Amino acid sequence: MRSATSYPNRHETFHPIPGLTPFRVSFERRWGYLSFMKTLKTTYMGMELDSPLIVGSCGLTRNIEGVEKCAQAGAGAVVLKSIFEEVIAHETESEISAAEESLWHPEALQYTRAYTRENEVSRYLKLVDETRKKVEIPVIASVHCVSAAAWPDFAKRLESAGAHALELNAFVLPSDPDRTAGQIEQLYGDLAKAVRDRVDIPVALKLGSYFSGLANTARQLSKDGVAALTLFNRFFSTDIDIDSMELKKGPVLSDPGEFILPLRWISLLHGRVDCDLSATTGVHNAATVIKLLLAGATTVQVVSALYKNGVDYITTLNQQLFTWMEEHEFETVDAFRGLLSHAESDNPAAWERVQFMKFSAGVE
Ligand SMILES: Cc1cc2nc3c(=O)[nH]c(=O)nc-3n(C[C@H](O)[C@H](O)[C@H](O)COP(=O)(O)O)c2cc1C
Repeated sequence: MRSATSYPNRHETFHPIPGLTPFRVSFERRWGYLSFMKTLKTTYMGMELDSPLIVGSCGLTRNIEGVEKCAQAGAGAVVLKSIFEEVIAHETESEISAAEESLWHPEALQYTRAYTRENEVSRYLKLVDETRKKVEIPVIASVHCVSAAAWPDFAKRLESAGAHALELNAFVLPSDPDRTAGQIEQLYGDLAKAVRDRVDIPVALKLGSYFSGLANTARQLSKDGVAALTLFNRFFSTDIDIDSMELKKGPVLSDPGEFILPLRWISLLHGRVDCDLSATTGVHNAATVIKLLLAGATTVQVVSALYKNGVDYITTLNQQLFTWMEEHEFETVDAFRGLLSHAESDNPAAWERVQFMKFSAGVE
């Protein structure tokens, strides 16, 4: 497996110390920069990152210019904007069985046939190839998928194009009353194995929180060879316009309070799964980054906060994380990662219940 450190000159490159731009080369600043980078260094899915902050898959990582901005601002890695399974299958003309096609909405097939641009697949491969050459941080390609049907061979092509890792945004809305939880969980497992069997680069699975047995599913997936779980995907949601009486899209960007859900689950899963955990959803400030790391996240992904504050906000987050670590005398992220997780607790569910009982009774 290639790692980010295989890049020549990676650590000889001068980046601005966040907050000290424009950068002037001086011994002090070089020393300061090296100390800063040493402190924030993180290993994620076997790759060495200069910061645990990752720009999550979104429009900001859809082209080379966007990715370059993320790298310049100090992102530890980027997840490219996803390519859809339906688009890959459509363009590669893979055979899709009737059973597999049932996972797709007919409108999805119609949409991909009518509206996807020509050569979207080769454009994506080119993006991976060129981005990889342009930036020194790890580039994680992303596929939005609902099955292991027609597309996993494409994973090999992403690897050949130079992707350091893959993140699969896998989502099956459990809306079919005839389908059991076990069947749905099996689908995620099949997907992970199908992709794992084809590539040597690490594979992360980005999941939603709709699982009846989330801890068990997560552990099983980690045993199936998934190198990281990204928790949790924030779904495209539908709202209702009460004036026009039509369906409309719900809020696209997250709110700061939404970090509570990944915080709980990362804290519960840390130490109980055999893979890394990457937190996503609701990360809007450095305090939240720190909380998620204390809960046990290996990396923390940011998206909405960058849409709201600009990509340079990564610099501020890195700097504030660094300052907090200095104040608390932590020399590395590993030194405090997971300190406040439930890893040592025999029965975290019972502990949470007691907290709720105390709150409910007005004791606290
Ligand atoms: C405009 C936009 C586009 C997104 N596109 C993708 C995508 O292509 N693939 C994906 O896995 N997630 C996508 N996401 C979800 C983000 O990666 C992230 O998981 C989610 O926004 C929650 O993080 P946040 O609270 O920091 O925004 C997108 C989010 C936004 C706001």
